[in-house]
Amino acid sequence: MLEIPLNIIEKINQLKTTLQSASYAYYVLDNPLMEDVIYDQLYRELQELENEYPSLITLDSPTQRVGDKLNSQLDSVKHNIPLYSLENAFNFNELKQWENRWQKQLEKITEFNYICELKIDGSAIALTYENGIFIRGLTRGDGITGEDITNNLRTIHSIPLKLNIDNPPPIIEIRGEAFLPLQEFNRINEEREKNGENLFANPRNATAGTLRQLDPNIVSQRKLQFFAYNSYLFSKNANITTQKESLNFLQEIGFLVNPNYQSFQNLEQIKQYLDYWEIERKNLPYMTDGVVVKINQFSLQTELGFTQKFPRWAIAVKYPAEEVTTTVEKITINVGRTGAVTPMAIMKPVQIAGTTVQRATLHNSDRVQELDIRVGDTVIIRKAGEIIPEVVEVIKDLRPSNTHPYQMPSNCPECGSTLLRPENEIVTRCVNSSCPAILRGSLIHWASREAMDIRGLGEKVVISLMEYKLVKSIADIYKLTSFQIADLDRMGDKSAQKLITSIEDSKKQSFSRVLYGLGIRYVGAVNAQILAENFSNIDNLIQAKQENLEAIYGIGIEIASSVVEWFKIPENIILIQELKSLNLNLETKNNTQKLGNLANKTFVITGTLPTLKRSEAKKLIENAGGKVNNTISTKIDYLVVGEDSGSKLEKAQKLQLKIITESELLTMIDNS
Ligand code: IVH
Repeated sequence: MLEIPLNIIEKINQLKTTLQSASYAYYVLDNPLMEDVIYDQLYRELQELENEYPSLITLDSPTQRVGDKLNSQLDSVKHNIPLYSLENAFNFNELKQWENRWQKQLEKITEFNYICELKIDGSAIALTYENGIFIRGLTRGDGITGEDITNNLRTIHSIPLKLNIDNPPPIIEIRGEAFLPLQEFNRINEEREKNGENLFANPRNATAGTLRQLDPNIVSQRKLQFFAYNSYLFSKNANITTQKESLNFLQEIGFLVNPNYQSFQNLEQIKQYLDYWEIERKNLPYMTDGVVVKINQFSLQTELGFTQKFPRWAIAVKYPAEEVTTTVEKITINVGRTGAVTPMAIMKPVQIAGTTVQRATLHNSDRVQELDIRVGDTVIIRKAGEIIPEVVEVIKDLRPSNTHPYQMPSNCPECGSTLLRPENEIVTRCVNSSCPAILRGSLIHWASREAMDIRGLGEKVVISLMEYKLVKSIADIYKLTSFQIADLDRMGDKSAQKLITSIEDSKKQSFSRVLYGLGIRYVGAVNAQILAENFSNIDNLIQAKQENLEAIYGIGIEIASSVVEWFKIPENIILIQELKSLNLNLETKNNTQKLGNLANKTFVITGTLPTLKRSEAKKLIENAGGKVNNTISTKIDYLVVGEDSGSKLEKAQKLQLKIITESELLTMIDNS
């Protein structure tokens, strides 16, 4: 074995300490200690020494931030302490009611004050440090179990790899919010638009999506940040008795703490803070959606404790969705993949909730009439979470004199055929099945993450492929060559080859994803699974009669008739035959084993699941052969937990039952 000279060990340690302090000064204190080139030189020196003596690489080395290890999957890990969420107050009155409530609960109110912190709109994460070294980071998940995203969190420079404490406790857990600064969010979306990928709806989704990336290199390119707001020491630290001291402590040990917190004696004072930040938050470089009001004293926090869902000692005061005014430059209609027509207002670009917007949805023709929106009008638009805002109101007093009421076109702008609005329906549609808008939408849906998950086949690429007449149906995607793709605008050999690989990989997707991808009306991801399980293959489904479909638990009249009608269309049958000959999955694999797998298994579902309604989860379990009960007992095999799981979870833990999340349930069903 190679003998390691002592001076090398010392040199490596010095380099690590110097680089750690420089990084802390740069990322946390915003007060650089050295020029970037010097940092880079020292970093390279360390890297070279570590390459030579790999046994000296430690978890806290600054070279370990850029993850080169791909996450094969994200493991579910139980939290040391559950992550609670916060009760919301939507106005000052609700904040007062909260104060009344917590004060009534105490026998005696000792001296107290409040601390207000900005509520950062990102993703809550929990970091574990063992003997001062960062060893694990989890997403919030359902609060009980999170996903292991350690490799991704290592790339965030405001998360120290080693705490700045002389005698660190054996375990310390830090909670806080990972988020994307708005500028970074906009940069990522611009890049995604260029690559023809779907845009992130808001910084919160972009943060959650980035944190769950399997490739830490992608994470390191998106400059995530982290604000710490809580620490759990698992050992008494007599010096920290208030939230304010806790924030100071977090800062001392190396974390970035949002500097805009403030202490107050009473709610009247807090009102001013709330009013101030309601306006001022628009100038912050990151997104905030409210203020968290916390009782400062830990003694009172302990006395008050938690409800099943929230701490009683804190509340989030939420700001209303942002609204701004702008003027309408044009009104157009957009045709979706089902042929549904959505009127849109194209406006003078404005900044709202951190992004520049130019389009707002007008929902449908009734809404257009109701608003009487006209080109030239001044409108109020609101963005409530999603990337496309809506028009809330037309300010008629500001209407110029020469405007005309807007007439919805009677023909499809893409194919010219007559638009129809069936009686009793609110939606106007293009019913020409060969309308390019419908094909475009169908291809985008087919390639989407929830369906066939063909990375690199987003809107822009689909539009190019259609322009060059390379695809006229879903099946044509599988006939593309890398030469054809490389010839498209903004595509090179490398991205073409990548796209060909993802297209080929998509052939392995399950039958239920294929069914969902076909875009049959009312057949969402859940109904597609139910159909795939009940009919085992596409031929059975094609032959199914309305009554066979309706007989299935969870499939109603509308879904049944939509499926029957879809398979009556000759072009659709041709598509299915083509997909069959292209070797896509048109049958449920290992069906007998599947029923065997969930058969004899009994589940209880508790809390709010992230995407499925409880009734949907129940359907899925039952369709896969399992049973669902309401009460916990030793006879139960699995407890499926969602957000705000209460006493059932505790009971299940006592009985040591297996506790799983929605995604684990779906994997069980998918793999069975
Ligand atoms: S304290 C037990 N403080 O808000 C109390 N939460 O709706 C835990 N959040 O999931 C929360 N900024 O991710 C707290 N300064 C702050 C926060 C904050 C953002 C998020 C947090 C949590 C959500 C609750």
